[in-house]
This record gives sequence, structure tokens and C-alpha cells, in this order.
Amino acid sequence: MDSSHDDHSSGFSHHSSSSESNQSKLATLHFDNSTTHSGTSCMPTLPEWAYHSRRCNDGRTRHTVESAPYMLPNDLTESDRLDAQHYLVRFIFKGNYNVQINPESPDLRILDVATGTGVWALEMAHEFPKAEIHGVDISAIFPTEIKPPNCHFQLCNILDGLPFPDNHFDFIYQRLLVYALSPAQRRQVNAELLRVLKPEGFLQLVESDGIVYNPGPQMERINQLSLETSLRHGVDPREVQTMKSGLKHSGYINVNSFNIALPVGAWGGKAGQLSLQNMHGLATIWLKGEVGKMNQDECDAALAVADTECEANQSYYKVWLVVGTKPKEPKKITNASSTTTMTRNTSEKVPVLVSTSSSSSSDIPRVSSSHYAEKNGSMSAA
Ligand SMILES: C[S@@+](CC[C@H](N)C(=O)[O-])C[C@H]1O[C@@H](n2cnc3c(N)ncnc32)[C@H](O)[C@@H]1O
Repeated sequence: MDSSHDDHSSGFSHHSSSSESNQSKLATLHFDNSTTHSGTSCMPTLPEWAYHSRRCNDGRTRHTVESAPYMLPNDLTESDRLDAQHYLVRFIFKGNYNVQINPESPDLRILDVATGTGVWALEMAHEFPKAEIHGVDISAIFPTEIKPPNCHFQLCNILDGLPFPDNHFDFIYQRLLVYALSPAQRRQVNAELLRVLKPEGFLQLVESDGIVYNPGPQMERINQLSLETSLRHGVDPREVQTMKSGLKHSGYINVNSFNIALPVGAWGGKAGQLSLQNMHGLATIWLKGEVGKMNQDECDAALAVADTECEANQSYYKVWLVVGTKPKEPKKITNASSTTTMTRNTSEKVPVLVSTSSSSSSDIPRVSSSHYAEKNGSMSAA
């Protein structure tokens, strides 16, 4: 993170009014650099760094954890963007998950890695009332008080490892960490998720590389700004294009992947309009950020041109969905060059993508643990 963007002098005071929304309380806490936590009873166990964000030159706040390259803001504007993005992703994938989950399974545990505002975890907690749902994030922008009793959030830098035992979760979901992980860190996180996943548990990754395809000249400049900003932090968003092989390399089996085009602009109907708003939120970060350095007027003008181009060119994002399974019998392989946990693929079975019962209204396949086919194509239960 460019240290020139730090401004620890912006000493916002801490207000704790019971009538404030939970999120505005959190936001106020974020700006509070004081070391006393009196009045913060909603989050008594947060570590010190959780109470700090730094205000950058673009007027946005960001986390302060040195080892984490994530460069997007953590303010209320960003929370709004994340929530809207959640509904967009849920809309295009026709649901919150694309694996089969048995709601009656005993000790059903689900983890949302880098949960953001926690909106996905909250909806999962509602849909699976008998399950334990956990969400972790480096910024405390998730709810702490107003949430279902089966939903738990924790502050955690996933690069320090996850605060859960081995073989703990039936399903792990990780969405849009594209700007958070260097290639080496993505491998490290893949291995850590494998550790906490139960044997035969599922991992689902959802990512976009953040590139607007079919760009006009202005949109291409914004693409380049996003790439340059990310590379400065050691993150290459294009890496998400190879997540499928990354998961296989990390020891997952039954890895399936597909990507869909998400329109940007009114030409793409409702989803296109939502995605245009999302593009504005992201592009503003790049245009006004540490590389773009534009003021608001310049930013607005650039976005107006980009909008016209996206409409004319029928521009779109790509969104990847990758699903993998933890093998039944993981085997630790240590060699001289690597200490990564590797797994032995003992499965004779390969997955097929199946549609759910609502398939008539869905072209999105689901991967089901109970719908495996032998290599000869005949169906059998896993
Ligand atoms: C683009 S947001 C996506 C949030 C959520 N998964 C969603 O789809 O709505 C990326 C999230 O990753 C979190 N994050 C980034 N680096 C992290 C790290 N090292 N450990 C934990 N969370 C991290 C950020 O704070 C942010 O909430």
C-alpha cells in the first residue's frame, strides 16, 4: 500500500448511539484512532487493528494490515457496492450456491471466506437454520449484533490462517478475492481451505478478473488503471482465469469450472444496469485512486464516455464459478521444494454438472455430491 496515502491525522470521534444502525456504528469505529474502547460493547473481543482504517488521498478508507495486499476501500460506499454486487451475482447464478447441500446433515457447517458485509452468510443462515454459518473478514464491515443466532462473524486475516480446526466445514464459499491475493497467497489460501474442509466437502469460488471485455478506448484506459493499481500491490487479477488448474494443483478433486458473460450497460437488461452501477463503483476507485489520481469532475467525465462505449460495444465482464471437492483420503506430501499439503486422488468417479429441480428456469448447473457418474457415464450415488 502506498504509504503516501496514509492519513492518520483524521481523528474522527467515536459516537455510540443506540439508535444508530449497526453499520454506521462500525463505520464510526473504523475512523476512531483512539485506543480506548469504552462504549464499543457490541464488539468486545476485536483486536486493536480492527478499530483502525486509514483515510487515503481519494477520500476513501482502507484496512491497515501490512501483510494483506487488498487495496479496495472498506467504507460505507464500498459496503453499498458489495451488497448490490451480491444481489447481482445471486441473480446471474440463480442462487447463493451451486453445490448440493443437505439441510438435514448433522453438524452442517458453512464458511464464507472474506465475507465483506456478510450478506451471503446471513442469507445462508436463514436458508439453513440448522447449520452453523461462519464468516471471516479483515475489515469489520459485517454485522455484530443484528444477525441470526446460527451466524457468526470473526475478524481474521486469512493470510495468517483460519481460526478453525481441520476437517470442520461441509461447504466453503469464497467470492471476489480477486484484488486480495498474490498468486502465491492464492495457493496458500487454497491449501488452508483444504485443511478446514471436511473430506468430501465442497469449495466454491466465484471470481471476476475485473476486466471489461469489448471495451472502447476510455473503458480500456480504466481496465489498464485497474491492472496497474493491482500489480503495484503484487496482485494480478488475470490469475483468476486459471483457478481451475490452481485448485487441482492444490489437491482438490472433481474440479469443475465455467464462466459467464455479465453485460455492462442497459443493453444487458436488468443485470446489465446493475453491473454498470458496479462498474462505476469500481472504476471510480481506479480513476481517483493512487494511479488515476483524478478529481470528481474528471472521473465523472471519464465514466460518461465509458458508459457510451459499453452500450455501443455491448461490453461485458466475465464471472468464473469453480467448484472442487476435498478428497476422502488426503495425503501429506512433503518434498524439498514445497511443504504444501498435497492430496492423493483416490476417486474413481468424475462429477457431472446437473441441474436442480428448478432446472426449467435455470441454465446454471449445480454440482451434486449425490450425482456422480462413473467414467463410463452411468449415474451412481457418491
Ligand atoms: C470484493 S470484497 C468481497 C466480499 C464478499 N465476499 C462478497 O462477495 O460480497 C473482498 C473482501 O475481502 C476481504 N479481504 C481482503 N483481504 C483479506 C484478507 N487477507 N483476509 C480476510 N479478508 C480479506 C475484504 O475486506 C473484502 O471484504
